[in-house]
Amino acid sequence: MPHMTDRAHPAIVPGPYRMLHGGDYNPEQWLHRPEVLAEDPVLMRKAGVNQASVGIFAWAAIEPERDRFEFAWLDGVMDRLHAQGVGVLLATPTAARPRWLAEAHPEVMQTRADGRRQAPGEWRHNPCWSSPVMRERSAVVIDRLAKRYAGHPALLGWHINNEYGGAADGARCHCDTCVAGFRRWLQQRYDGDLERLNRAWWTGFWSHQYQSWEQIRPGDATIEALNLNWHRYSSAQIAGFCALEIAAVRRHSAAPVTTNLHGGLDQYDIRALAGQLDFPSYDSYPEMHGSPGDRDQVHHHAWLGAATRGFGGGKPWLLMESCPSVPQYHRLPRMKRAGVHRLLSLSMVAEGSDGVCYFQWRAGRGGMEKLHGAVLMQDAPHDSRVFREVAVLGRDLAGLSAMAGAATPSPAAVVWDVESEWARNLNSGLSNLPRPRAAAVAWHRPLWEAGIGADVVDATADLAAYRLVVVPCVFLLRPGFAERLQAAANAGAQVLVDGLSAWVDHDFGCVGGGRPGPLRGALGLRAEEVDHLREDESVPVEDPAGWLGAGAAAVQWADRVHVADAEVLARLRDRFYDGTPLLTRKRLGAGAMWYLASGLRPETRAHLMHRLCTEAGIAPCLPGLPAGVIARERTQPDRRFITLMNPSDAPASVSLPTGWTDALTGAPLARVDLAGWDVRVLSGGWPS
Ligand code: GAL
Repeated sequence: MPHMTDRAHPAIVPGPYRMLHGGDYNPEQWLHRPEVLAEDPVLMRKAGVNQASVGIFAWAAIEPERDRFEFAWLDGVMDRLHAQGVGVLLATPTAARPRWLAEAHPEVMQTRADGRRQAPGEWRHNPCWSSPVMRERSAVVIDRLAKRYAGHPALLGWHINNEYGGAADGARCHCDTCVAGFRRWLQQRYDGDLERLNRAWWTGFWSHQYQSWEQIRPGDATIEALNLNWHRYSSAQIAGFCALEIAAVRRHSAAPVTTNLHGGLDQYDIRALAGQLDFPSYDSYPEMHGSPGDRDQVHHHAWLGAATRGFGGGKPWLLMESCPSVPQYHRLPRMKRAGVHRLLSLSMVAEGSDGVCYFQWRAGRGGMEKLHGAVLMQDAPHDSRVFREVAVLGRDLAGLSAMAGAATPSPAAVVWDVESEWARNLNSGLSNLPRPRAAAVAWHRPLWEAGIGADVVDATADLAAYRLVVVPCVFLLRPGFAERLQAAANAGAQVLVDGLSAWVDHDFGCVGGGRPGPLRGALGLRAEEVDHLREDESVPVEDPAGWLGAGAAAVQWADRVHVADAEVLARLRDRFYDGTPLLTRKRLGAGAMWYLASGLRPETRAHLMHRLCTEAGIAPCLPGLPAGVIARERTQPDRRFITLMNPSDAPASVSLPTGWTDALTGAPLARVDLAGWDVRVLSGGWPS
């Protein structure tokens, strides 16, 4: 067994380094079927499953009445799993509440924006994060669980809550307790000075001035700064609730804690949570339709993986949920075609996940998610296509255990910031311009296609280690972000800022002195007006040095820029835009600050990224990669792993330099032939 220091990072869970393979396991729904419970761990072993997330929605089974705890069933589950070598991420069961709690204390339920409190049993991700009773009872049940299982040999770590935020407006409760908390939170932020808040929020507009703190209520869409701060406050409530759950665990257990992020990552500010976790997890359900759009889905899935990694500071993370079969919520729930499950799974390992987990191990016979594809469908025979594919992946993951703990080198960063996403969604106007997430996905794409590692990070991240930083549509400037960008450039990075960035400050007011606010000096320019182009329109470009490639044109939007002190590398050229700068560069320290003053088509964006990578000294992880094949690298101190993926129906071949072997078979490789949707993991030494 390798020593800890032989790996780039500590293992995400205690014990030997390994790839986790498993998923949500809800035995509390099968307590009346002991033969099923007995069979589960045996079948898990057969499927190469070594991990189970237990008890996520089991509060009612653990505490059927206030202060009456039933642990016998859970003891049996933990023991049986352990006997088959399956480790447990034990959940704090707080994502759904027992009916007795919600009926005795309706205030634990969330109040919607329209003032309606949810009924007991309505949906699941719906607590009031600030309810004292909710907090107290959560701490009690977690305390009892942690005390009982901290020393259990099956315990790998703690699965805190489940998908905080959850349903549509699940991140924000509008009850009186939350609103009163919001006012206190604002008083602290504005030092109790209401006049300061009025000025910062520009409430002179339409006579919106507040005369007392009590007049502040979330919900008025015309006061944008109010709603932005309401998002921040609600996010802080979730972070506080997570801290409470972790503290209750920590009274008894030092095992790692994680929580599963989900969806578009924008229901709350993940960075507020990420610092509390030992590693982050993500739940991913790409919609694969068997059509050319599937490649976009594979990329989007990779982008979310890169963001989960970025939020966790670059360390390994865990794909906590995925579907081995047909996800029932999809618009077109299709079976995964041959190879698709394996490719999607290994693409996450390639992005730094130290494992692949599912929702769920065994589907229930009833309830809303009975038709959601699981490894086992109810009590049907296990001899199924899905089970066989899962078992094959289990063997692969066991064969890749040397990869666990590996770093995921990322010389580039694409900034996507939740506060910009909120601000753009709350902002009136600009509705036909790209949103931050769509822009960040689009800018990450050419890096992914080219085999270049890129983290997705937010505007609070330390950027010092990156050689290329792309800032697309980062509409709101977080405090210190402009300084961090300049520090990165000074340290040698190429920093590209686009004209949809740096529009508003922390208080949602337009940046002082005109766009791009505090970045004017570093970029050597100021921007004046943005033109929203029609869909059928483009503006020709003059690009003498070929930064943008053949056929480049400005599309979607174009900015009028005045350059004071920067090189103008390309210009817009038509009767109206007669020579307006389009792409500029100002050298700063050992690097440079670049400004892009228009939207680009995907092929032009890819060309510019390629040139910027060359400027930044960044090369693909494998030379001579044919178009269409995706390559991602993970590294250990003593060797490198490259995952080659072919997310298309057409076969492809990759010629390799010397020194590569198949990571699963050990066979030396000079060339890899990939069928459609095939994946091959290579292992090689560092060049001497
Ligand atoms: C996840 C959730 C699971 C399950 C799954 C179905 O978002 O965490 O509990 O509902 O979706 O796709």
